[in-house]
Amino acid sequence: MSTGTAHWGSRLTFVLAAAGSAVGLGNIWKFPYMVGEGGGAAFVLVYLACIVLIGMPVLVAEWLIGRRGQKNPVDTMRDLSAANGRSGAWVLLGASAVIVGAVILSFYSVVGGWSLYYTVEAATGAFAGLDGSGVEALFEGMLASPLTLLLWHSAFMGATIAIVARGVTGGLEAAVRLLMPALAVLIAVLVLYGTTTGHFGETLSYMFAVDFGRIDGGLVIAAMGQAFFTLSVGAGVMMAYGAYLGRETSLLSAAWTVVILDTVIALSAGLVIFPIVFANGLETSAGPGLIFVTLPIAFAQMAVGSVVGFVFFLLLAFAALTSAISLLEPAVAFTEQRSRLGRIGSTLVIGGLCWALGIAALLSFNLWSAPLPLVGLGLFDALDGLTSKIMLPLNGFFAVLFVGWFLNRRGVLEELGLSGLRAKVWLALSCVVAPLGVVAVFLAEML
Ligand code: PFF
Ligand code: NA
Repeated sequence: MSTGTAHWGSRLTFVLAAAGSAVGLGNIWKFPYMVGEGGGAAFVLVYLACIVLIGMPVLVAEWLIGRRGQKNPVDTMRDLSAANGRSGAWVLLGASAVIVGAVILSFYSVVGGWSLYYTVEAATGAFAGLDGSGVEALFEGMLASPLTLLLWHSAFMGATIAIVARGVTGGLEAAVRLLMPALAVLIAVLVLYGTTTGHFGETLSYMFAVDFGRIDGGLVIAAMGQAFFTLSVGAGVMMAYGAYLGRETSLLSAAWTVVILDTVIALSAGLVIFPIVFANGLETSAGPGLIFVTLPIAFAQMAVGSVVGFVFFLLLAFAALTSAISLLEPAVAFTEQRSRLGRIGSTLVIGGLCWALGIAALLSFNLWSAPLPLVGLGLFDALDGLTSKIMLPLNGFFAVLFVGWFLNRRGVLEELGLSGLRAKVWLALSCVVAPLGVVAVFLAEML
């Protein structure tokens, strides 16, 4: 997919790549533990509202910008702002998006490494016979070992670099087309397993019976950050992918496809995890370790648990890989187009920087666990919070603002194929609801 190569082979390829970027650790690892930390249904409700009212308009805006610019996010913003008589400062949006994608990749790869480690543990039967405290010890043991984390982070980042260095093409399509449906089927099977635990009803009310009293500034900003993260918006990724889109693709129907797929998989992951949590008396608020201390218990209880566990964590690692590729692509495209490093050199340099930052992040689980001054968090949590809660929403805010207020409206409506009531809804969302929504959430957090 490097610049200079052709556009996406077909509409389907583009949707597959975008869905491959969206569906990943954000759905299966992050969403359940954020629901658990946010106290259940209140978080889910705010999250869904942010997906529809903010995330979806931003997604469409980023694709539209990317398709018009046809370059990496930085040069795209430079060209588009110039062509529309706008300030050159818009280039900062492209730059910020490219940087945040690379920063996310650094800690994302650490968790991708956890999936790989668990793939191997499952295959070697390590979960067999483990109870709640046994799986917790396994997870804690992994975190306590810098070398284990380093090894698997390096393996995951190495795979990402190897694929991006060659240009993101055929392999990605095959991976998404085969492995993502397989993951979806396996998740559906695990949801069925959840219904046998006797705690499925409890899970449904935990996730969907909203206690409005729990909604506060902290919850709202976490839910909005998760909406951006899960849809891959605000990080230059969808802008960069949009650059490879043909004129004939309908952005709105592609957006609905990606949003619905992503949301169904996230909610299903919750329906898998929480029955296991309740059935085994575990904590919903276990944090980033949640899926790694719940799923192995279920696998330990299944007749063919090592096989199921192996396949599950392997498919999770692949889903993470298609997202990681998308995170690396914008910064590599920029470096390749602006330097003499070439495709491979650019990938090695940018990928190497992400790898190094990832090492610093993984050390915050063991050797360097002291909270950072000012932020009061370890580096892993600080990078995660800074990107999801601040940088992605800020970039998304400016992307949707640019499309809503700084591009010719008639042209945008025509490009989206909108008229009448649907045009009004789009204008309300992109000009008012989405940008004001981001501002309101920031204010709610600060006040
Ligand atoms: N959307 C991915 C997930 O849910 O796992 C993560 C991600 C990919 C975030 C690309 C941001 C991004 F630009
Ligand atoms: Na996602």
